[in-house]
Amino acid sequence: MNNDRTPLVAANWKMNGDRAMARQLVNALVECVNGGCSAELVVFPPAILVDSVVAAAASCVGVGLQNVSQHSSGAFTGELSVGMAAEAGCRWSLVGHSERRALYGETDLQVAAKFVALQAGGLNPVLCVGETLEQREAGHTEQVVAAQLAAVVQLAGVSAVAAAVIAYEPVWAIGTGVTASPDQAQAVHKFIRQQLGEQGQTTRILYGGSVNASNAKALFSQPDIDGGLVGGASLDAQEFINVVNAAER
Ligand code: 13P
Repeated sequence: MNNDRTPLVAANWKMNGDRAMARQLVNALVECVNGGCSAELVVFPPAILVDSVVAAAASCVGVGLQNVSQHSSGAFTGELSVGMAAEAGCRWSLVGHSERRALYGETDLQVAAKFVALQAGGLNPVLCVGETLEQREAGHTEQVVAAQLAAVVQLAGVSAVAAAVIAYEPVWAIGTGVTASPDQAQAVHKFIRQQLGEQGQTTRILYGGSVNASNAKALFSQPDIDGGLVGGASLDAQEFINVVNAAER
């Protein structure tokens, strides 16, 4: 597991894209890596496109699922296991994305179980945390983020969480065009690192929420921001590469 805080920029395509787009976009990313870009790149395509993405990604761009089951097999219609993801060539998975929490009712406990299943199966989890606008306005941001982290720490242990990648994605900044200011994001990233104690010093913490080529540099230059988890802006190769370039050390 890479924990030297090399900048990491990840693309969450959500439910977007097709085979042609996947090939074209990933080819552009491979070119970017071969051209000497120093950030680590990971793509989270829709699961059905993973084969095409893995084939195009060679070994220089990481590939992951957007969600996995906490179970290893069985009667769970529509779900995918960690073992299946690994066999398909995934080395990563998102876990606890706010859309999974809000739209599919994923609880902190399920998120924690998925996190444990991922690490047990040798995949790198990107654990997503973040508050809603209502929670921020009520002054509860730290409390919410701390509780989301604590649920996973309780089940997996602090070293396991510190060894993973964490993505701070304020729900109010996702897909809204309203990004957290660099100061707002930095404050929460610092808080997350503190929650992990000494071991958190090496944890990569990504910012997500309306990241694009124009705001990436200011966000990524904050001391506790180690890259980004990018939705909309990752669907356009040039825009995403400009975001990636903003993460260069
Ligand atoms: P947007 O970049 O589209 O706001 O999405 C962020 C996100 O949810 C990434 O996981």
